[in-house]
Amino acid sequence: MKVAVFSTKSYDKEFLNNVKGDQNLVYYEAQLNADTVNLTQGFDAVCIFVNDRCDADIIGKLKQNGIRFITLRCAGFNNVDLQAAKEAGIKVARVPAYSPEAVAEHAVALIMTLNRKTHKAYLRIKENNYSLERLTGFNIHGKTIGVIGTGHIGQAFIRIMKGFGTRIVAYDPYPTDLVREMGVEYTDMETLLSESDIISLHCPLTKENHHLINSDSIAKMKDNVMLINTSRGGLLDTKATIKGLKTQKIGYLGIDVYEQEEHLFYQDLSEEIIEDDTIARLMSFPNVIMTAHQGFFTKEALTEIALVTMANLCAFEDGKESGNEIN
Ligand code: NAI
Repeated sequence: MKVAVFSTKSYDKEFLNNVKGDQNLVYYEAQLNADTVNLTQGFDAVCIFVNDRCDADIIGKLKQNGIRFITLRCAGFNNVDLQAAKEAGIKVARVPAYSPEAVAEHAVALIMTLNRKTHKAYLRIKENNYSLERLTGFNIHGKTIGVIGTGHIGQAFIRIMKGFGTRIVAYDPYPTDLVREMGVEYTDMETLLSESDIISLHCPLTKENHHLINSDSIAKMKDNVMLINTSRGGLLDTKATIKGLKTQKIGYLGIDVYEQEEHLFYQDLSEEIIEDDTIARLMSFPNVIMTAHQGFFTKEALTEIALVTMANLCAFEDGKESGNEIN
């Protein structure tokens, strides 16, 4: 099949080329959006990533251009209008769980960096500043960790955090015995918010949970709470979060995702004037760490993404189901 692969970086090409077989992959660095959708003329399928746009208008144009299949190189699919794709007769598949550990371990990296301030210590020591002033951390051992979403990544995160000797409380509309057997207490959201020292988001972004963390939920949290978001930017009301940081309700913020990330992430903008004042304000806090959606970014995950993407394409080409279809 002829496949237009959008938002490709050198590492995407490297890992996809290793496994592409007979598939004819054409790589575009550009995101899929209203300006680039015409590049898909003459293709059978598109392969997209987290910030490619697949709303109803774009899906309409994909259909006109003859696209029959959309395959995502990621687990989350909030950027695709599944209903519109179904109505257009376009099948959509994803990579459901390429490496839950990759994202869970990144969430832990954010926690430990914010806590023990290793990023600041590194810079200090580079300048022969061996002072410990203002580097005080806290023991994770004995703390209560609130996990929102106990699917693949939530469970991998729980396994690691259990090792620290923590109490884990969790909220998920679909609680499972498997997670209970890990020693996790399912609670309602209010209890989770009010009892957790660290809250980590591991649920998908849906229309219903947009701004799940807002001024009301922040008000219910413990003072000086640590908030970690490696899921999707839209789960967090960024303006309310900034207010929470200013009032010192939120003591630490670690995010791998950002509401407006599609305009910023995966690009080198170091010589550009950033017009997004919200991200500039966020970056001004000493207790905020942001990474640019790199939770997935391990060799193991990239290998798995490439393999499953190829399996999805081959299954579609053969008129079979890979099991990763979502519409
Ligand atoms: P999953 O589908 O295995 O688990 C998601 C869990 O969230 C399910 O148990 C579901 O019942 C629960 N859930 C749904 N709505 C909820 C709500 N409103 N409140 C609490 N729980 C809710 O998904 P997985 O693989 O664990 O991934 C979770 C999310 O992580 C993805 O949807 C994606 O947004 C994000 N992600 C981020 C990556 C990164 O690089 N930062 C990479 C991969 C995924």
